[in-house]
Amino acid sequence: MAIDTAVSDRFELITVPRARGVPSFAQDVVAGMSSTPKRLPSKYHYDDVGSALFDAITHLPEYYLTRAETEILSEWGWQIVRLLDAPVDFLELGSGSAIKTRLLIGEALRVQDRLLYCPIDISTEAVCASSMALVESYPELRVRAYAGDYFDVLESQAVLSDHKMLAMFMGSNIGNYEPQESRQLLALLGSALRPGDGLLIGTDLKKDRATLEHAYDDPIGVTAAFNRNVLVRINRELDADFDLKKFHHVAHYDERRGSVDSFLEAQERMSVRVRAADLRINLEAGERIHTESSYKFADDDVARLAEGAGFTPRSVWHDDAKSFSVHLLVRQ
Ligand code: AVI
Repeated sequence: MAIDTAVSDRFELITVPRARGVPSFAQDVVAGMSSTPKRLPSKYHYDDVGSALFDAITHLPEYYLTRAETEILSEWGWQIVRLLDAPVDFLELGSGSAIKTRLLIGEALRVQDRLLYCPIDISTEAVCASSMALVESYPELRVRAYAGDYFDVLESQAVLSDHKMLAMFMGSNIGNYEPQESRQLLALLGSALRPGDGLLIGTDLKKDRATLEHAYDDPIGVTAAFNRNVLVRINRELDADFDLKKFHHVAHYDERRGSVDSFLEAQERMSVRVRAADLRINLEAGERIHTESSYKFADDDVARLAEGAGFTPRSVWHDDAKSFSVHLLVRQ
C-alpha cells in the first residue's frame, strides 16, 4: 500500500512499494550472469556514487546530450508550455532538480498562477531533496512526489490532477529501455493520462559513430568509472570479489539496433564469487558483460513509438547542431 506523507503544506510525498514478483538485485545478478552473453540491468548504475558520476558525465565535453536538451528548453520552453492550454500540471519521470525542469516550471508560471509538479523517482532521497529545493524557489509551486519505480507508480496510482497534465520524460532516459520496454512504458503513460494531455520526451538523435562512441567513452574515464561502479556495488552489496582493474570499459555503436552499448570486458580469464547470491561466475579473457543500451532515435522512430502508444506527435524541436530532439506528443 502507498504511504502518503505531508512533508510541508506545499510538499506531499507518496511512497509506492515495489510490486510483488519484481526480482531483487541478487536475483537480477544471478539471471544476468547466467545468460549468454552476460548482462546486468543498467538501473543498478545509480547508487549515490553512480548518480554523482552520471552528474559529472553531463558536464563532459564529449557528452553533448544534456547541453543540447538544455539549449532546446532555454530557447523553446516558452512555446512548449503554451502549446497545451493553461493551466497545466507537470508529471515528470525522474526527479527534476536539474536546470531543465526549472526552465519549464519558470515558463509555466508566466502563463498560470499556480503549478502542481509531480515527479516520480526510485530514490526517496533524490526526490525529497529536489522537491524541497523547488518549493523553496517557487512560492506558487506545489509538489506531489512519488517515490517508487515508474511502472509501479503509473500502474498503482491515479497520477491525475484536475488540470491538464504535461508529462515529461527527458534526458534521453527512454534510450536506456529496450524497445519492448519503452513501448510498454509509453503505453502505461498513455493510460495514466487523459485525451489532450501532453508528453514531452527528449531523445538523442542517430548520428555518426565517432561522435556517439566518444560521448560514451570519454578520455578522462568518468564514463568508465560510472560503468565499473556497478561491479563495486555487487562487491559491496552482495559480498562479491570482482577485481575492477581487470575490466575495460567498452562503448560500441550497434548501427542496426541504433544503440550505443556499454560493456565491461574481462582482461583475463577469471572466476568471481558472489557470496550473498551463492554464485560463481566464470569469465573468459575478452568476454564482455553488457551493462547498458543507449538507444538513439530518428524523429520518425519517435513518431512511430508515439503512435503505437496512443499519442499524436504535435511538435519537435532541435538544438542548433541538430544532435538532440525534444518531442511534444498529445494523448489521443
Ligand atoms: C541516463 N542516460 C540517458 C544516460 C545515457 O546517455 O544513456 C546514461 C549514461 N551512460 C553513460 N553515459 C551516460
